[in-house]
Amino acid sequence: DFSNENSILNQFIMEMRNVSIQKDAMRFRKNIERIGEILSYEMSKTLHFKTEVVKTPLGKKEMKIPQNDVVVCSILRAAIPLHTGVINFFDKAENAYISAYRHHPDGGDDFEVIVNYLASPSIEGKTLLLTDPMLATGKTLENVLKAFKSHGTPKQIHILSIIGAKPGIEYIKDKFPENTHLWIAAVDEKLDSRGYILPGLGDAGDLAFG
Ligand code: PRP
Repeated sequence: DFSNENSILNQFIMEMRNVSIQKDAMRFRKNIERIGEILSYEMSKTLHFKTEVVKTPLGKKEMKIPQNDVVVCSILRAAIPLHTGVINFFDKAENAYISAYRHHPDGGDDFEVIVNYLASPSIEGKTLLLTDPMLATGKTLENVLKAFKSHGTPKQIHILSIIGAKPGIEYIKDKFPENTHLWIAAVDEKLDSRGYILPGLGDAGDLAFG
């Protein structure tokens, strides 16, 4: 939970939550993107680094450079600006997109998550970054993981999210393999009966894209 620390990140999260400020869809998207950059930076510290010698015009310098083959996958559609933020920093990464939506079979609060689109390179032995601004019940991520089974086994998985609810975080820890790391900008306590994060920020997809 990075929002426990004092940093500019909290300004961006506040603007996303604030019921007046969040109405500005362009600012909302830009804040998602900026948080994607911050989470990428924090996550990058845990990658595998190798010392390389860089030749400058005036000499040589040893530098530690990350070596991982990264695949960035975003869950449509609220994650699109988050994806942009991540590839602003991981500009050599491969890219994947997956769709997920909640289907309410009887029109009530109960729902199942339907995944019907996945375009991805092989993730075999690679570092998979899953981005989604909201981690509510965790059912979306659970179904995304299932859909990826046919694309190989990643060496490690990083989940990048802006707001995560405690019940969803616990759910994910149970469903994902051990080599999974969660990077969540802010953690909220609970969900309502419809599976929305409380206090959260509302519907990120609608706020970003209408
Ligand atoms: C939101 C969000 C996540 C999902 C989280 O998407 O972007 O994908 O819900 O919920 P879960 O953890 O309970 O599965 P939404 O269904 O609103 O789609 P959208 O981004 O296209 O609006």
